[in-house]
Amino acid sequence: MTDAIDDRRSAAAGRPVLAAPPRFRGQLPFFRYVRTVRENTIASLPAEAFEEDILERRMLGQRIFSVCEPEALKHILLDNAENYEKGPLLRQLLEPGLGRGLLTSEGAEWRRQRRLMAPVFQHKMLRRFAPQIVEAAESLADRWQSRSAHEAFDVNGEMMRLALIIIARLMFSADYQERAGDVERSVGQYQRLIRPRLMDLVGLPDWIPRFNRWRARRALAEFDALVRPLLERERGGDAGDLLSLLVAARDEETGEQLSPREVRDQVVTIFLAGHETTAQALSWTWYLLALHPVEEARFHAELDRVLGGRAPRLGDLADLPFTRMVLEEALRLYPPAPTISRRALAADRLLGRDIPRGSVVFVVPWALHRHQKLWAEPDAFVPDRFDRERAAMPHRFAYLPFGAGPRICIGASLAMTEAMLVLAAIGQRFRLRLVPGHPIEPVGLITLRPRGGIRVTLEPRR
Ligand code: HEM
Repeated sequence: MTDAIDDRRSAAAGRPVLAAPPRFRGQLPFFRYVRTVRENTIASLPAEAFEEDILERRMLGQRIFSVCEPEALKHILLDNAENYEKGPLLRQLLEPGLGRGLLTSEGAEWRRQRRLMAPVFQHKMLRRFAPQIVEAAESLADRWQSRSAHEAFDVNGEMMRLALIIIARLMFSADYQERAGDVERSVGQYQRLIRPRLMDLVGLPDWIPRFNRWRARRALAEFDALVRPLLERERGGDAGDLLSLLVAARDEETGEQLSPREVRDQVVTIFLAGHETTAQALSWTWYLLALHPVEEARFHAELDRVLGGRAPRLGDLADLPFTRMVLEEALRLYPPAPTISRRALAADRLLGRDIPRGSVVFVVPWALHRHQKLWAEPDAFVPDRFDRERAAMPHRFAYLPFGAGPRICIGASLAMTEAMLVLAAIGQRFRLRLVPGHPIEPVGLITLRPRGGIRVTLEPRR
């Protein structure tokens, strides 16, 4: 049996009720479950997922677990990570387009790629790229300056475009500019096509043809055609971009480099993994700030004090602790990667239960980050809980916006840096106001998006 629960606790505490699917109790019937997962993964979670350590569901003989207990998550993602490969869903959805890049590869192949790519994502890369991120954010703010105060627009769309421009610039430096529109169209088409099918959910064999995969591959053929000449130009010289760093990357132990095919797969992977997630983090942060005027005023005051009207720089970020706390809290409430899936290679035991070989194990940041046992006022926006000087930090495995263990997001520092620089550059120039009457609904597919966008108007601050 299922019945909706209208969760009004946050309202009782005088805080706004934040957009979230209604909670129900019990298990959804088979077809409704399949339909819900296909349309919005987070809407398939019962209220028990936010209260209990582990839930189990059976689907056509397959056992599916959702785990929300920090020590068990440490076991899955770190201590016994070798036993948990990426879940079938992610690979079946993404591999047709991304090939065998870092996000989808496994075993020795993944280890070799990660060793090669880790140095590319080090701190010195942030120094190289921070000015370009700020320039892109400032030019968006310049464009916004000419908007009239009453003109409503979708800030989610604007953040997607900005993040795409940023990743494209970092990847291809100047060569990219004139093709921006084409890349955006091709990537957007691909993203719309990759949706889980029933066949993927129950893990039917890969050789069964899936029409949507063929179409997804075709959408990316256009992207490939755009990228190919750029890959070819790269055989000589350092253009100072991510692509040059990938082409030049060398395994310190063996001296091996990435093959041209592998470079292509990494480029597409970084493009897709690296822009939409960051754009969603930014969009949800603007949404939360607009709903919480007290926190918004603190955010603006910090920017005014530290930057005094000039553009932000990488070195400023250490002096913007409240901006970081706001972003961390937004990543808790609206994790851009709301579910992480794994498959058990061998039988295991978790929380006193047998996990048979082949079981699918979901790590669900959406439920974990709002879990009743782990967080005080789990559904409220309280950036101060991330104040490292005053608050006890949560268990490392209670907060997983970037995952954890060997497969932790390789772009986490880049994402945090990019998001903070964009928040600072735009936040010191504008206040964003939500358009009343426009419903905000979070939808989890591969990332967590606001269905229909987030409509806002702007109030210039200077
Ligand atoms: C707020 C922004 C971001 C979020 C929330 C995020 C989240 C995640 C998560 C949860 C994982 C782990 C998935 C798993 O364990 O199955 C991951 C992996 C990954 N992310 Fe991110 N990501 C973000 C930004 C980025 C950026 C900017 C890049 C690249 C420029 C990137 C590239 C990757 C790659 C390549 C992997 C696979 C790593 C591996 O398996 O070794 N991500 N990301």
